[in-house]
Amino acid sequence: MPDPCVVAPVRGRHAVLPRGCAGANGQTTLSRLMLFLLLTIFQIAMETQQHQTDIITLTRHVLSEGARARSQDETVTGEMTLLLNSLQTICKVIENLVRKARVNDLIGIAGNQNVQGEEQKKLDVYSNEVMIKLLLSSGQCSVLVSEEEDNVIVVKEHGGHPGKYCVVFDPLDGSSNIDAGVNIGTIFGIYRILDGSEGSVKDVLRPGREMVAAGYCMYGSSANIVLTTGNGVNGFTLDNNVGEFVLTHPNIEIPSRGNIYSFNEGNSMYFHEPVIKYLESVKFPGEGKKPYSARYIGSMVADVHRTLLYGGIFGYPSDKKTKNGKLRLLYEGFPMAFLIEQAGGVATTGEKRVLDVEPQSIHDRVPIFLGSKEDVQDLLSFFHK
Ligand code: AMP
Ligand code: AHG
Ligand code: MN
Ligand code: MN
Repeated sequence: MPDPCVVAPVRGRHAVLPRGCAGANGQTTLSRLMLFLLLTIFQIAMETQQHQTDIITLTRHVLSEGARARSQDETVTGEMTLLLNSLQTICKVIENLVRKARVNDLIGIAGNQNVQGEEQKKLDVYSNEVMIKLLLSSGQCSVLVSEEEDNVIVVKEHGGHPGKYCVVFDPLDGSSNIDAGVNIGTIFGIYRILDGSEGSVKDVLRPGREMVAAGYCMYGSSANIVLTTGNGVNGFTLDNNVGEFVLTHPNIEIPSRGNIYSFNEGNSMYFHEPVIKYLESVKFPGEGKKPYSARYIGSMVADVHRTLLYGGIFGYPSDKKTKNGKLRLLYEGFPMAFLIEQAGGVATTGEKRVLDVEPQSIHDRVPIFLGSKEDVQDLLSFFHK
């Protein structure tokens, strides 16, 4: 006997179940719901498909910016484009090292100290080697400065073909977080070599406002390159399957005010009065106002990345123990200050614009406060009192 509840649909119409069969009453509603769901899934699939056919990779972005520069100035050669692509490759290689560090036994100390007396981790050493080797062979650089190298590297003294740019970099930022698997990064800044120079330390002992490009790559839950060439800030996320960084954060603008402060408050007993008073003001803001949230990762790249996206203030001040704080001017302070300013924020030492500081030596340190305009202005008001 055929089951009366199994009814074949009539052409162009929905089958109607006889009374008494389960689902007979809600049948039309259910079909409509199913149809709606199917259409929604189809639409999402189509949108995703459309999106995937026109992705803007970092390679595409850099090439089109190069073409744009060339259309405005016919002396543009393409060297900058090649250098930015070398830096992109470097970030991919370091990202791969970072991801495999635990299984490939790259965790732990290398057994040396760098010029700043800091213990080098194995990943510091490998990342540094990767950067130096790839930049030396890029043909686009004349001078390199690395956090991990005591002296400047003059490319032609190392058998490399000298180019018109000088790159200053922190190959691996946030080393103390490596073993815990917390976000770390690579920071770089680019100067154009001085006219007539064959490559010397003078090419990099220049204020940050003379940098032509700066960026970082953060190795976190995803790898993100954030880049400025002096025309705004763009963020790219690595699609590991494609092997390309994809534009995910176009034209980043930092909120004019945030609600996060990011300082190593463990150093409070050494902080100077303006910083202590400012921190008190965000924690005890007065009647009817909400206090700020504290977030401090201890990797500058990660703390700056969050500040760029969410707003607020990040600071590493000078204190009673350290005249100029901890962070390095050339390859931490300048690139981050350049990015923050390009995103509409402020970066100050407490006394002057970070980008106006004149470096005296390549490993100089700088007190720094950076982030949302209004938050940094609030902090500065305590310095002016
Ligand atoms: P080049 O001759 O290729 O080294 O470029 C000269 C200048 O043009 C650079 O210093 C940049 O200011 C600008 N420029 C060239 N290519 C690019 C690019 N791909 N992205 C952004 N700016 C670029
Ligand atoms: P690096 O690992 O390159 O030496 O840099 C570490 C820096 C920076 O990433 C971070 O903002 C700061 O050190 C954290 O310092 P504290 O541990 O003193 O807070
Ligand atoms: Mn660092
Ligand atoms: Mn470092």
